[in-house]
Amino acid sequence: MSSLRLRREDPPVLEEWYRRHLGPDIHDISSSGVHPYSFAEIRDLCSIPAADLDEIVMDDSVSQGGAGIRQAIADRYARGDARRVMVTHGSSEAIALTLTTLLHPGDRVVVQEGIYHSLGHYPRAAGCEVAELPAAAVRDGEIDPDVLERLITPGTAAVIVNFPHNPSGLTLSPQGLTALTERTAATGAVLVWDAATAEIAHRWEALPDPGAVGGGTVSYGTFSKTFGLPGLRVGWAVAPPELLTATFPLRDRTTLFLSPLVELVAERAMRNADVLIGARAAEARRNLAYLTDWMAEHQDLVRWTPPEGGVCALPVFRELERAAAGPAAVERFCLELLSRHRTLLVPGTAFGVPHGARLGFGGPEVSFRAGLTGLSEFLRTRGAAR
Ligand SMILES: Cc1ncc(COP(=O)(O)O)c(C=O)c1O
Repeated sequence: MSSLRLRREDPPVLEEWYRRHLGPDIHDISSSGVHPYSFAEIRDLCSIPAADLDEIVMDDSVSQGGAGIRQAIADRYARGDARRVMVTHGSSEAIALTLTTLLHPGDRVVVQEGIYHSLGHYPRAAGCEVAELPAAAVRDGEIDPDVLERLITPGTAAVIVNFPHNPSGLTLSPQGLTALTERTAATGAVLVWDAATAEIAHRWEALPDPGAVGGGTVSYGTFSKTFGLPGLRVGWAVAPPELLTATFPLRDRTTLFLSPLVELVAERAMRNADVLIGARAAEARRNLAYLTDWMAEHQDLVRWTPPEGGVCALPVFRELERAAAGPAAVERFCLELLSRHRTLLVPGTAFGVPHGARLGFGGPEVSFRAGLTGLSEFLRTRGAAR
């Protein structure tokens, strides 16, 4: 018998689902990212000759991120101020480092309902008093002003949101963002803003990064979503320099820094962001147009709110809603869809929505359409069997 005494924690539903069910030869219409690029495509689109790779000295990098990649991120998202940028192992690490450093037990923290799991985890793990910003309070690009005033009170330490929201695709209008930043500024709360898919907007123009203007805001970005580089594992935080340096002790004891090889690829990708994002955003928009027609044809079976930004949506299946089915039903639904049609969705249980699923439309067009065909057959067959 093993003598290991392990501390067990429940994994996030989303990651466990992918661990178990993401595999080759499936139509993955579940992702919150776009069609990933191959390394050959990156080298071509971003002009990275083999000689540049050969010149890299595989030495240590530095805690806040190498100068080149930091400046490239700052030029696009932080008005050129590289002191406000930290480069991390995905934005996951930026979230972990900054929230662990920022939050204290007993802090009052407002967290958007159904938020990406790690953004909700750290305030709870720190022993904060968490108040939820209800999903229903976000409508037509605005957070209900009464809710803003009631929730974000003087003394609130932080407000943590993700727009465009993964998975609903709802976002704020420029006026909605202004109202939020004015309220956080008026109450002294730190705005923590996850902008993972900010570069792809549908209903309004892409929002500026609220971290860019300075002040206390913390914002996160990543190469994993709209850049099509999830395997690069690079993200960043834009934040006050004193917060970034205060994260160093934790980073010193965990990941230290990134590889100079990864930093060089990331720097070139950032300098060519418009090319990388542009092609994938165009594909996502074609998929969204196709999906919009598909939703209209299936409105007897599915309802949705069209996404306003990003590359995913949260359709709700009417049969599950009508039956007031418990959370296990949508997981069974997604598993059957996968086994019968090799089509992957993420059950809404990963986001606290028991009758829906995350549907991503950023993937390769052919596979996306094949996945929707599978979902269509699946829904119609189930409908007929009732
Ligand atoms: C909203 C949001 N934030 C952050 C992340 C973390 O991504 P990464 O660590 O790949 O940058 C994700 C990943 O799915 C996400 O959806």
